[in-house]
Amino acid sequence: MKSTSSPFLSCILLLILPLSTLSQSDLNCNAHDKAILLKVKAHFGGVGLLSDWDPKDDCCDWDFIGCTGEESPNPGRVTALTISGGTGLKGTIPEEIGDLPFLNNVMFFDEPKLTGPIPQSFSKLTNLRVLTLNSNSLTGPIPAFLGQLKSLSQVDLSDNRFSGPLPGSLSGLARLSSFNVSHNMLTGSVPNLKARSLTSLDVSDNQLCGPIPAALEKFGAAAFEHNKLIKRLLSSYYKS
Ligand SMILES: *[C@@H]1O[C@H](CO)[C@@H](O)[C@H](O)[C@H]1NC(C)=O
Repeated sequence: MKSTSSPFLSCILLLILPLSTLSQSDLNCNAHDKAILLKVKAHFGGVGLLSDWDPKDDCCDWDFIGCTGEESPNPGRVTALTISGGTGLKGTIPEEIGDLPFLNNVMFFDEPKLTGPIPQSFSKLTNLRVLTLNSNSLTGPIPAFLGQLKSLSQVDLSDNRFSGPLPGSLSGLARLSSFNVSHNMLTGSVPNLKARSLTSLDVSDNQLCGPIPAALEKFGAAAFEHNKLIKRLLSSYYKS
């Protein structure tokens, strides 16, 4: 027996081994997070584009999902759930999403059959930086707990059917950079949002009333137009 194939083989093995460890560590989806996402898929009946979420695959490779990287102290945790436009989702936003503790980016937009409130469980998403829920058919109040999610930077709840007041707790969000709640049915007054970090504001097309906090006047009339009393107040600001 000649043994020339043996060094050749081990050479191949050396080449293959790092590759196989690579593809194994690619399968880094956290098991808890994967189970939650499969509940989200089931909640929506597994239809539309979510039907591509195959339990056999790494959930970090699924459409609409982002994860922490392998260099992270907590690799394979789901950080982003960004679903938009034409996925055919129907029904409410599932409570289970609140059990993805590493989420920093939640987007559901352009889903006209997405109904119901912002789930109470979102109060657990303390790492949330981006909350984009525009252009759906969501109802209910803007929850006061949003003011406790201190990392929130971009909030877009525009073009839904949210009602009730803008909670005063929002004024505690020191990192808020953009805030859009236009095209809803919000009532009450505009809270004293922290204006220093805020670069974009739109509360237009609601039923808001009362005075505009002085620090927010810099956003101009368009940010406040089509409300109840604010329009009149603003036009008097702009005349003088
Ligand atoms: C706010 O949202 C509305 C509707 O989604 C959009 O048309 C508008 O441009 C947004 N405003 C800003 C300042 O981005």
